[in-house]
Amino acid sequence: SQRHTIAVIPGDGIGKEVMPEALRVLDTVARRHGIELAYREIEWASCDYYARHGKMMPDDWKDQLLQTDAILFGAVGWPDSVPDHISLWGSLLKFRREFDQYVNLRPARLFEGVPSPLANRQAGDIDFWIVRENTEGEYSSIGGVMFEGTDREFVLQESVFTRRGSERVLRFAFDLAQRRARRTLTVATKSNGIAISMPWWDKLAAEIGSEYPDVTWDKQHIDILSARFVLSPDRFDVVVATNLFGDILSDLGPACTGTIGLAPSANLDPERRFPSLFEPVHGSAPDIAGKGIANPIAMIWSAAMMLEFLGRGTGPEQAAHDEIIAAIEATLREGPGTGPRTRDLGGTSSTAEVGAAIAARLA
Ligand code: NAD
Ligand code: IPM
Ligand code: MN
Repeated sequence: SQRHTIAVIPGDGIGKEVMPEALRVLDTVARRHGIELAYREIEWASCDYYARHGKMMPDDWKDQLLQTDAILFGAVGWPDSVPDHISLWGSLLKFRREFDQYVNLRPARLFEGVPSPLANRQAGDIDFWIVRENTEGEYSSIGGVMFEGTDREFVLQESVFTRRGSERVLRFAFDLAQRRARRTLTVATKSNGIAISMPWWDKLAAEIGSEYPDVTWDKQHIDILSARFVLSPDRFDVVVATNLFGDILSDLGPACTGTIGLAPSANLDPERRFPSLFEPVHGSAPDIAGKGIANPIAMIWSAAMMLEFLGRGTGPEQAAHDEIIAAIEATLREGPGTGPRTRDLGGTSSTAEVGAAIAARLA
């Protein structure tokens, strides 16, 4: 049997509500496939922990997580009690950086039974992957506010794009595009306006692109690229973007496919030097937290992506991944009014009812 140690970090808000559903589904498939999952349940990396300890995590957080094979993460953030930049730079953003999870892989896919807010889009029309740079770029802590409170006050914040950091995420995206049927890559840029870093990014894309003669690729400025997500999402296959652009695109993509409550993500260290982290794209959703109505599918799909990565694309883990995806598809296909669905999909079911329905298909 295959054994994996998983750090389970529910975090805040609906993170604590969707996590049990992912574990329920994991337990069901793991048992049948002889996959042994040892969970390390972690209550830190949460704003509750911050309230008790004045920090988001214990000092030995890194040692604890290094003893695991993967991190399953809900969501962090409770802005009424802890400012978002404190809670996120004290947890999730630390994990991404310290564990060099330089790829944030985020699919956008329109499922059968899920209406798109875009007119005349059917299942199959939207099916692409966003490859988001995840460790540098516009997300930096280099800078500061100067002369605060005077009329000379200003703020400066640097962006950092390293050659190594850019090349490796571009190469990952070209590799992924090469393995897909359409072999098409879109490089998000803004080299018309951001006239130092983005022309440089374009140049690197062209360098890496020349290594992939069988991949059709182009670059698009982020403004029109965003418009095309809405107007012609069918033209996308793989999209690679810097950290901030990738963040924005990865809420816009899933909005076009119905709800961000379905969108998963994998924060990968593809070289496997460190544990990778799997989490929904969405946050802690304070507006619906505590009601038991959050959609658990993004979390469940993220858990499936974890199994796929742990199994390196083969074996019982891959089989378990494929079954979870099939169970999600089947549950969504039942359609509004018949199948269990949460409020973001127009239904009235609870988080637990949707999780149980998916698990039941896998039993
Ligand atoms: P959010 O993703 O939490 O919520 C945005 C909207 O989508 C809300 O209306 C929410 O109710 C809805 N929504 C989100 N997930 C849903 C689900 N599974 N089912 C149904 N509806 C869902 O974004 P926000 O409001 O900008 O952020 C809230 C907090 O979460 C902030 O503290 C923010 O910093 C944090 N956040 C954390 C992560 C993360 O941990 N990865 C990601 C995004 C935001
Ligand atoms: C995401 C989130 C985070 C990000 C926030 C919470 C820092 O929006 O995972 O998409 O910007 O990366
Ligand atoms: Mn985001």
